Amino acid sequence: MNQRQKEHIRRTFAQIEPIATVAATLFYGRLFEIDPDSKHLFRYDLGSPGMAQQGAKLMQMIAVAVAHLDNLDNVIPAIEALARRHTSYGVEARHYDTVGAALLWTLEQGLGRDFTLEVHDAWTTLYGTLAGAMKQAAYTPA
Ligand code: HEM
Repeated sequence: MNQRQKEHIRRTFAQIEPIATVAATLFYGRLFEIDPDSKHLFRYDLGSPGMAQQGAKLMQMIAVAVAHLDNLDNVIPAIEALARRHTSYGVEARHYDTVGAALLWTLEQGLGRDFTLEVHDAWTTLYGTLAGAMKQAAYTPA
């Protein structure tokens, strides 16, 4: 990830953070629309306090990654452990694609005109790095 991509990520995440609760609700709404089966993995309903808490955890984890863009290697062990916990939630490798698509869509909704092609590419790169490490940790036979 180059310096310019990191700047795009930091700037646009700062725009999204104040509306994190709304963004998280949009995100799950979109995820359940494009991947209705994934709804069963979550124990809470959309719009419930539990789901809001779940959304806050997701946003926090993204915030951790964004804060460590210059040394992502330091957070990869935590990301790998997160991925292994996700297998016990019933998450499969294919779900990472729909979650990525829902995340990009949410950013587009939140950023509007600021969601440029370069911003899209920067987030695709970051999510790809995280999801790649997670899938490798959780689904690659030892
Ligand atoms: C970069 C990718 C992802 C991040 C950063 C992320 C983050 C988190 C975090 C922080 C939690 C809280 C629990 C814990 O720490 O173990 C969590 C729980 C969960 N995530 Fe993810 N997640 C990601 C991908 C996914 C995917 C692909 C799915 C599949 C649809 C998913 C479904 C779930 C479910 C079902 C739970 C547990 C809900 C419960 O408590 O019942 N996550 N996630």
